[in-house]
Amino acid sequence: MVKRIKPDLSLSIGKLKLKNPVMAASGTFGYAEEFKDFIDLKKLGAIVTKTITVKPRYGNLPPRTCETPAGMLNSIGLENPGIDKFIREKLPFLKKLAVPLIVSIAAEESPDEFLVLIEQLDKINEVSAIELNISCPNLQKNKLISQDTKDTFEVIGSVRKFTQKCLITKLSPNVTSISEIAQAAQDAGSDALALINTLGGMSIDVNKRIPKLGSWVGGLSGPAIRPVAVKMVWEAYNKIKIPIIGMGGIIDTESALEFLLAGASAISIGTANFINPGVSLEIISGLEKYMAGNNIPDLSQLTGKLRACQD
Ligand SMILES: Cc1cc2nc3c(=O)[nH]c(=O)nc-3n(C[C@H](O)[C@H](O)[C@H](O)COP(=O)(O)O)c2cc1C
Repeated sequence: MVKRIKPDLSLSIGKLKLKNPVMAASGTFGYAEEFKDFIDLKKLGAIVTKTITVKPRYGNLPPRTCETPAGMLNSIGLENPGIDKFIREKLPFLKKLAVPLIVSIAAEESPDEFLVLIEQLDKINEVSAIELNISCPNLQKNKLISQDTKDTFEVIGSVRKFTQKCLITKLSPNVTSISEIAQAAQDAGSDALALINTLGGMSIDVNKRIPKLGSWVGGLSGPAIRPVAVKMVWEAYNKIKIPIIGMGGIIDTESALEFLLAGASAISIGTANFINPGVSLEIISGLEKYMAGNNIPDLSQLTGKLRACQD
């Protein structure tokens, strides 16, 4: 009888050590407390918080979400309590979990706001990593930082000087060349990339002849964007050396594996959390089974291990 191996799902992303590669994606998991009655949070590889800004944000006009074929549109507009209230009211629960905590941050007006946020978060031991959200499509700006190689390089470079913590940069798919932006992020000192944020989209109620979102346009997520996301992960993987956290339409083990094979070292689950809060834990055991069944001892034997042709 063939002896099955017990696969090792642990990995490191810069200084960040994870027991498995499955994370909860920013903005789709609140501050984790909202999910405590549905799943054993301690089993997650990491938790990424909703993006935090310096000041509280009340978000965009409702309706803020609508369903689309194989996905959803959202224009939440980064509603969040602001950094002070986050530290006071949301962090204590997250600290107790002892799951690697990644705090997502964004600047509303000026990139200097990143430094204000970093200064506060850098002092907190339980913050394992910081994710720079330079790709939120719902801030009603003409251009995102991550739509320009120079801006991407400058913002990450200035933040990098102020923290030794693991720095992850979240990029937008709304660009011409993801590999050029990924290269700029790596050159500026980002330890890892999170790929992808939502794709710009719009949906119309033809009976009322009005846009379905209060802010007219929003970000598309869910299985509809998966092929776009997988391609972008693959393109970035072929260009850069730093680890990639892949996301966009992951709903099960098979879709998670697509990202790992395309070049992701870890994956994040977003929209699927709204349908099945237990999906991340199902994917963790699914990955374990797949690896055991295929005699794959550790994750490094999966990341980017696409075959060039059919056997
Ligand atoms: C309702 C909603 C809110 C989101 N809020 C954030 C956010 O605050 N910060 C961020 O970086 N990404 C945010 N995202 C993007 C997700 O983290 C993820 O990158 C994207 O949805 C693609 O993954 P998915 O298809 O698995 O949802 C949000 C997505 C949704 C659906």
